[in-house]
Amino acid sequence: MRFSNSFLDEIRDRVPISQVVGTRVTFDKRKSNPGRGDFWACCPFHGEKTPSFHCEDRKGRYHCFGCGVSGDHFRFLSELDGISFPEAVERVAEMAGVPMPARDPEAEKKDKERASLTDVMEMAAQFFQDCLQGPKGAEARAYLRGRGIASVTQQTFRLGFSPDSRNALKEFLAGRGVAKEQMEACGLVVVGPDIPVSYDRFRGRVMFPIEDTRGRVIAFGGRALSSDVPAKYLNSPDTELFHKGNVLYNHARARRAAKDGPVIAVEGYMDVIALAQAGVENVVAPLGTALTENQLELLWRMTGEPVLCFDGDNAGLRAAWRAADLALPLVQPGRSLRFALLPQGKDPDDLVREEGREAVDALMAAARPLADLLWMRETSGRVFDTPERRAELEQTFRELANRIRDENVRRHYAQELRERVQSFFGSSRQPGGRQRGGGFPHRAGGAQGRHGAAAGRFAVSESLARSALVKRAAGVMPLREAAIIVALVNHPALIDEQFDQMDKLSLASPDLKSLRAALLDAVAHDVAHEREALSAAIAAAGLGEVLERAQALVRRANLWPALPEAAFEDAREAFLQALHLHRSAGTLHRELKAAEQALANEPTEENYRHLVEIQAQLRNVQATEALIEGFGILSGRAGRS
Ligand code: UTP
Ligand code: MN
Repeated sequence: MRFSNSFLDEIRDRVPISQVVGTRVTFDKRKSNPGRGDFWACCPFHGEKTPSFHCEDRKGRYHCFGCGVSGDHFRFLSELDGISFPEAVERVAEMAGVPMPARDPEAEKKDKERASLTDVMEMAAQFFQDCLQGPKGAEARAYLRGRGIASVTQQTFRLGFSPDSRNALKEFLAGRGVAKEQMEACGLVVVGPDIPVSYDRFRGRVMFPIEDTRGRVIAFGGRALSSDVPAKYLNSPDTELFHKGNVLYNHARARRAAKDGPVIAVEGYMDVIALAQAGVENVVAPLGTALTENQLELLWRMTGEPVLCFDGDNAGLRAAWRAADLALPLVQPGRSLRFALLPQGKDPDDLVREEGREAVDALMAAARPLADLLWMRETSGRVFDTPERRAELEQTFRELANRIRDENVRRHYAQELRERVQSFFGSSRQPGGRQRGGGFPHRAGGAQGRHGAAAGRFAVSESLARSALVKRAAGVMPLREAAIIVALVNHPALIDEQFDQMDKLSLASPDLKSLRAALLDAVAHDVAHEREALSAAIAAAGLGEVLERAQALVRRANLWPALPEAAFEDAREAFLQALHLHRSAGTLHRELKAAEQALANEPTEENYRHLVEIQAQLRNVQATEALIEGFGILSGRAGRS
């Protein structure tokens, strides 16, 4: 009998090839890397003593470098066991737990229909693409340009535009001989018992084609151009071709790029595209819903430890927790998750646009393991001031660990969490003490002195825990500092006027410190009056590249008053503003640390209040800053459709 391609794909996708091969060979432990789905064994097709038979889950193929055999799941079984292709298919389907398709002409017919549905989707994708590049697409093109999406990126992702019309697509497809029923089956038109005449589902939206693993368009997401539309994003409904919980946006491309690092899952289409444009191509997104178990499986098929990167808001944090709960029972040796949490109020698209690729790399490098995330969730912002509460925390962790199905991982989790709890509460009990959570006490390798214990008992505020999560690698420039220095370079009159401020300024970035030293040096040599002379002096000091980087950062963040084009008055105002915020934030950070230490040493009500007060002030400064930088106006998230 003939099997449909989608049936074969489905069972091949569900069963890693290593599982099929593993029934016939013993993998070489040293050479294999189960986390990456990469296995080696002595070849079962020819006799050998050292393993040259390779199988790779990601590709779903095996290859022997000794005798040259290669193939997929079915070929392996049929050639090794001498069975027919349909028999091999039957065995793999059984392993996958998928029933064999009935041998009826009905199924074959369905298969054909499905094929024609993909053709219709392809026509629609082409139509939307043409509309975007045509006269009707001007507004949408301007919108995308405004969001920094280059035209090659538009091509790569096949972005399109659906005209604001009830029948533009319908008529186009009808003209190409597509039947009404097919348009409906594709979810391209809206139909219903109370709708006398079906009409185009997507109107006046930027269109994002969603492709299957082979790059065929199976659905669309559409983003409204204006913000006063009820649904910011509208997605295709589930159809014969598209089951949204089983699909990842950008799956095919990310799988190809998965060798460049762990696959990253973000929340939105625009995040995927902005990252890809910056050269981070191993990124996928779910489709407007929370991550499903199925999607997790797809991620794990690409990489052992995908990084989930959620928006830096409450919804993002909740999504991370939800994903942690979903994944916990399923973790295995070499198969887990990491979490990258973004700074407050940002999504990956914002981050890469404002701070560039390095900021993304730094964020990924700082991604936290699943165990850390669970720890933070259960302890942050909570008080463990009674034995009952401490026991409760212990019990929570026991229960969490028990959810893990893999016995080995379960044992390790139980042990790790027990140790964390112990070092968290410390060995010395302070009666009536307050224990606040949120930090990440690391496995105490004997270094559990009084100080360590105290830090555990009162492990820092939520805000610091958060900043530990989003900590940047050294070498990344803080935007505010960059803006201050860049303003000085571009408007040298400020140097004269604000010399003392510039001199005293405390800077975290070593690069910007060097730049400031070069400015001071230029003042000493009396060449700090002109922008050109100053730039030349900086270049002569070997800091040309640093200056360029700082300028680019400031430009990307749209802090135009610091740039050369701005009027001097604007530059001065922006400079003073940034300086003021910088100082307040700096002082407050120091006060925050002191207050936390004070609370740890002496858990009184008063110390607690003081800490809360400083946290509030710090939030205030950050909010002002966000507003000034224009981050604050970045939308509230509309209700999800
Ligand atoms: P976000 O609101 O975070 O989207 O939703 P975003 O990608 O940052 O959007 P921009 O930057 O404003 O364009 C994340 C994802 O949730 C789904 C979409 O898949 C979106 O990419 N979503 C969001 C919906 O399905 N419907 C909505 O109304 C909003
Ligand atoms: Mn966004």
